Amino acid sequence: MDELIEDLLAKLDLPAKLRLISGAGMFRFAGDPDIGLAEMPVSDGPSGVRGEYWDERDPSVSLPSGTAVAATWDPELLTEIGALIAHEARRKDVYAVLGPTVNLHRSPLGGRHFECFSEDPVLTADMAAAYVRAVQAHGVSACPKHYVANDSETDRFTVDVRVDDRALRELYLYPFERCVDAGAWMIMDAYNSVHGITMTENPLLDEPLKGSWGFDGVVVSDWTAVRTTTAAAQGTDIAMPGPPMLWGAPLEEAVRRGEVPEAAIDEKVRRILRFAQRVGALHGSPQATPEFDDERAQDLVRRAAAAGMVLVRNDGVLPLAPDSTVALLGPHADLPRFMGGGSATVIPAHTTTPVEGLETVLTVRHTPGVRLEEKLIPVPLELVTDPDTGTPGVSLRYLDGDTVIDTQHRTAGNLMLFGDRKAATATTLEIRARLRADVAGAWQIGVGTLGQARLELDGETALDETITFEGTDPVGAILYPPQRAVTRTLAEGQEVDVRITVAAPPAIPGLGVILGLTFGITRPQRPAAEEFAAAVELARTSDVAVVVVGTTEQIESEGFDRTDLRLPGRQDELVAAVAAANPRTVVVVNSGAPVEMPWRGDVAAVLLSWFPGQEFGAALADVLTGAVEPGGRLPTTWPAHMADVPVLSTTPRADGTLPYTEGIHVGYRAWLKSAVAPAYPFGHGLGYTTWSLGDLSVDGRTATVTVTNTGDREGKQVVQAYLSRADSAVDRPVRWLAGFAAVTVTPGASRTVRIALPQRAFEHWTEAGWATEPGSFTLHVGTSVTDLPLTAEIS
Ligand code: BGC
Repeated sequence: MDELIEDLLAKLDLPAKLRLISGAGMFRFAGDPDIGLAEMPVSDGPSGVRGEYWDERDPSVSLPSGTAVAATWDPELLTEIGALIAHEARRKDVYAVLGPTVNLHRSPLGGRHFECFSEDPVLTADMAAAYVRAVQAHGVSACPKHYVANDSETDRFTVDVRVDDRALRELYLYPFERCVDAGAWMIMDAYNSVHGITMTENPLLDEPLKGSWGFDGVVVSDWTAVRTTTAAAQGTDIAMPGPPMLWGAPLEEAVRRGEVPEAAIDEKVRRILRFAQRVGALHGSPQATPEFDDERAQDLVRRAAAAGMVLVRNDGVLPLAPDSTVALLGPHADLPRFMGGGSATVIPAHTTTPVEGLETVLTVRHTPGVRLEEKLIPVPLELVTDPDTGTPGVSLRYLDGDTVIDTQHRTAGNLMLFGDRKAATATTLEIRARLRADVAGAWQIGVGTLGQARLELDGETALDETITFEGTDPVGAILYPPQRAVTRTLAEGQEVDVRITVAAPPAIPGLGVILGLTFGITRPQRPAAEEFAAAVELARTSDVAVVVVGTTEQIESEGFDRTDLRLPGRQDELVAAVAAANPRTVVVVNSGAPVEMPWRGDVAAVLLSWFPGQEFGAALADVLTGAVEPGGRLPTTWPAHMADVPVLSTTPRADGTLPYTEGIHVGYRAWLKSAVAPAYPFGHGLGYTTWSLGDLSVDGRTATVTVTNTGDREGKQVVQAYLSRADSAVDRPVRWLAGFAAVTVTPGASRTVRIALPQRAFEHWTEAGWATEPGSFTLHVGTSVTDLPLTAEIS
């Protein structure tokens, strides 16, 4: 391979080399037909493969998000998930999936918490390495991101993280190190700085990444993260997106002036060619991937979702009896969150909501009790007809003056033009549809976009204004553009001709137009007090109340952090009122990250669903009825009160720095040190059977323990091994996770579980490198960080 690469490199002149080290589009690496190198489209992940474009006409399977996957504590499940991701990548003609996200849950406020796995480096690393292996086994590249210390979103483009070397090595770098060991072909560097140097130019790319770890793949910049031309002398290999801005022609000048050595460019090209060879883009074709029809994909997503759901509390109400009548309440019962927001977004062809899932197995009566939409929702397909085709959907036209350049039948209210070249020649974009009111009352009808926008209803101008964005995150401006709406009172069945026109913004040269365009509505709502009372009344007159609550895209997404841990709206009040009306109240929390649950002691059960992917409803029905066990254990600590959280603030200081003053004490390590108890500890989770653990022994670096299922149904247990070290000469956590194993055991049976304790678990980072303190460590084995009945000494 090396010889081939050198031969090809020798055929490229400087401009040709420079073309390869910048993108050829929004989500496309450049090719070179002269040397048999194909262009390489790539796609966002990690929880699905959107493809090169955001387009509902080419949908994607939506898988459980990072926290949901980590909650399975089951790297083997990733073998299956990785195969599905690789299949989706091939189906979408992309060579790489931009994931997994392996930053840590340093603070529960972190906006992309849902996308990352855990607060613990070992759990994160084990899941991430399994993801990388599983996807790449099928010839599709993974791309662990964002290297490094992109653990929160506030000021993410500029924040300068100050983190000591020990915390960096033992915590934040560790998952990347393990991904490199797993053979990752690509790594994405981050927007932020570490110790004053932006990550696309940071020495950490050379050492340890490309140096002692021996990473021989491609370092791709996070999108727009390359800040200077001379950065090309440093470790980032491909500047994305393309076409070249700071690299390309200005870089050619810099090389000719001797400011950037050509050898540095050659090294990048070598890595890109090696990458291309690995993914089948160089003189060859990509490897075939496993086949997944819809049924097989849906079955896997459904199993994975259930395997990650964490039952944190259950007084025996779950599983529900099959003949139960259920009051199904809460805003997320029919408008759930399947996935997190931002770049992880995919557009699934099909979803099941909790209402749809539970209705198939139980007698369900549903009302939300509380509505959260402060904003318009993209118009649901069943309410609109495309006037051109007469079928559900809208007509999107590209106009140059009065001339129609293109007409598309679209089947979404949210249209994301993300590098749209056709729009580059248009002056106006136009959405037309016939909206049908399915209930009588006051409807809001509106538009979300940027720039000059007009809304016409039945031929009359209802809105005409220039919409500007006031936030700081350009991704947010596109994905969640500001909205404007008018109110119209409509009779049931009444139809309205809707026409939205937006001035096409200037195209980015070579890339096309980037614009989010939403045709949104809100349906008439019952007066809030009436709706709330109706939910409580349903709860009172049903056997069981299931309340599905959660976060919204406005508070939990990419590009910003949360400001508190409360459930938005009147959700806490609703749960409290429902629990007072029916002691058999089960709360399902549909968030990607911890929320406060002030009512948790007053309800019969609490189930955390995370963002479980497109099969939410079906998986929830499986778990609530006991068809399958909730298989999850907490990958991150759930606080009782935000004020208790030991590492919380993600706001940089006035000088732009964000010091990680807590050092290695993050997550449960910080909680153990603070001596305040959280609501639910790291590693905690219940199933539907009972267990005993015994016979702990240690042989070398392998711990062996007997796990007995003492209940009357099959169950899954996650056996966790932690280390501690009394009288250590160095600062240490009270204890730290060293290894774990997920096992399934039939009723009455026992299984011998072996847990490998890697050498690294005994090491700490010093100025001279990794070191092991001689003497004794204590091994603690159990089922959460605070439930560790077995101990042994290791010398
Ligand atoms: C995100 C990355 C993502 C990229 C491309 C960035 O804003 O931080 O995770 O892969 O956009 O969508």
